[in-house]
Amino acid sequence: TTVLVVNGPNLGRLGVRQPDVYGRQDLGTLRELCHQWGAELGLETVVRQSDDEAEMIHWMHEAADNGTPVVMNPAAFTHYSYALADAAHMVRDAGLPLMEVHISNPAARDEFRKRSVISPVATGTITGMGLFGYRLALEAVAHLVGGTGD
Ligand code: DQA
Repeated sequence: TTVLVVNGPNLGRLGVRQPDVYGRQDLGTLRELCHQWGAELGLETVVRQSDDEAEMIHWMHEAADNGTPVVMNPAAFTHYSYALADAAHMVRDAGLPLMEVHISNPAARDEFRKRSVISPVATGTITGMGLFGYRLALEAVAHLVGGTGD
């Protein structure tokens, strides 16, 4: 199974952006970790990042059409993008898991981060576990698609 790991705006700045909140590891490292973790779980991972809402929506359409489960960190789009939420809904409608991941714990931060418009359409949400949250999300996908990750 191929899993799409999508990262939203400003996550291309991982490693330099608020390292106290998001850690010191960069997107390249996250990509390598996902490949490694995926391989252990019998999953192929494609890790992408975009600052562009339209591009992320397009990737959701592709995932729905191609039967690709999704791990998504919607970043700031989490809090207000109904368009991305609708696109995520289509992935779920296609019978596919969509795991929402946040590196930090948004519930413990600014008021505007406490609401996610993605959570109601996600299969599940993992927050506050740093990059390890992506591993947990991949394990959840492996479990849900009946792979070796149970
Ligand atoms: C984030 C949390 C969001 O509130 C924020 O806008 C991000 C990253 C996280 O991974 O903790 O860009 O999704």
